[in-house]
Amino acid sequence: MLTNSEHEIILVIDDSPTNLEILHNTLSSLGYEVLVEMDGLSGIYQAKSYQPDLILLDVMMPGIDGFETCRQLQADLSTKNIPVIFMTALADPADKVKGLELGAVDYITKPFRKEEAIARIKTHLKIRRLSLELEDQKQQLEQLVQKRTAELTQTLNELKRTQLQLIQNEKLSTIGQLVAGIAHEINNPVGCITGNLDQAKLAVKDAIDYIRLYQAKFPNPGAEIEQKAEEIDIEYVLEDLPKMFFSMQAGIERICDISTSLRTFSRADVDFKVSVNIHEGIDSTLMILQHRLKAQAQHPAIQVIKNYGKISKINCYLGQLNQVFMNILANAIDALEEASQGHGYETLKATPNVISVTTEMNDEEQLVIRIADNGMGMTEEVKQRIFDPLFTTKPVGKGTGLGLAIVHQIIVDKHRGNIDVNSELGKGTEFIIRIPIA
Ligand SMILES: Nc1ncnc2c1ncn2[C@@H]1O[C@H](COP(=O)(O)OP(=O)(O)OP(=O)(O)O)[C@@H](O)[C@H]1O
Ligand SMILES: [Mg+2]
Repeated sequence: MLTNSEHEIILVIDDSPTNLEILHNTLSSLGYEVLVEMDGLSGIYQAKSYQPDLILLDVMMPGIDGFETCRQLQADLSTKNIPVIFMTALADPADKVKGLELGAVDYITKPFRKEEAIARIKTHLKIRRLSLELEDQKQQLEQLVQKRTAELTQTLNELKRTQLQLIQNEKLSTIGQLVAGIAHEINNPVGCITGNLDQAKLAVKDAIDYIRLYQAKFPNPGAEIEQKAEEIDIEYVLEDLPKMFFSMQAGIERICDISTSLRTFSRADVDFKVSVNIHEGIDSTLMILQHRLKAQAQHPAIQVIKNYGKISKINCYLGQLNQVFMNILANAIDALEEASQGHGYETLKATPNVISVTTEMNDEEQLVIRIADNGMGMTEEVKQRIFDPLFTTKPVGKGTGLGLAIVHQIIVDKHRGNIDVNSELGKGTEFIIRIPIA
């Protein structure tokens, strides 16, 4: 930044040695550094090398004249902002206009009066100084704006993340509490049925034995009893009753499993870590998604292949990891359903829909979970954006686009892990999650 005349450089381009000498002496005595050149081309060269603060330019010179010199200075980025004052012996106003039009800031008519020339030179150097200062301030301001924008962008991103977290926690806690509540409420009636079922089974067995004994001892009980036996098909009833109890028992066991899964899935430990085997989490999630995996009128069941390896327990937020499994598995089912559209039942039976879940430990003490489907896959463009909040390719009402953004946050931010995706359009998709055990 130039602030005083000591460091200000003035370049004088004039073919008259007398003029050069006068200007050199006068300007040097005022404290300016003065460079002199006697023709246009050398002047341009000097201007580029020394970046003077002002150029005094003669019009009539051998070689290229002052107008052409000025034009070339204006055309070059490195010299275009250096103010040029024409020194002209021409009294013709047209020439002055021409000079100003070429970009000169002023003109001095020769022979010049010293005081006037100095006053003009000082004025233009001052303007030059001020405009340099202004430029400097503008740049500082721009930097400041950039810095503020960056800060704001970061704050905005943090806000978005916090918002996601809030939504996720809200989702987890409301659904979790509801599900845990239901699972808990089912327990009492289920316990009551299980207990009574055992008793009832014994009682019915006794009753059947008793009837069988009656039949053996009294083969001819009389018309009324024989007619009733025929009416209710007593043989069928006696045969079927134990089977009915067997089915009821199986049904109740299934309700117990679901209730356990619901409770595992919706563990209230959203806010603190627990040490668990995550197979429990995956299994409970699969159980909850059972209704979407089983055979339907339009398609056979989705095959679930579990390749569970020997894995260590990990310290994790299991409730949140279950949320991860839920989102990835639900997406896989969506992708399979979409890929199956328009294919007949038989075609789908020949080339079944498959979801595979593979777990293992790797050499870096990480738990690796791979969840793959042979659904519709995705394009490279979609793949780049799947973790963006609100990005979805699904119709309004079906997808919110939050699933994988939440998954990413839980894996990367909450568990210091990472998540990768491989996908090929029309072939399928694989998500690979790595979580450090420590
Ligand atoms: N297994 C997959 N196969 C193909 N595309 C997938 C798969 N998983 C995710 N995608 C793509 O990634 C997008 C984003 O998934 P994400 O789970 O974040 O949102 P969503 O499923 O659309 O909505 P929701 O918020 O209800 O989960 C999906 O819309 C889909 O295009
Ligand atoms: Mg989803």
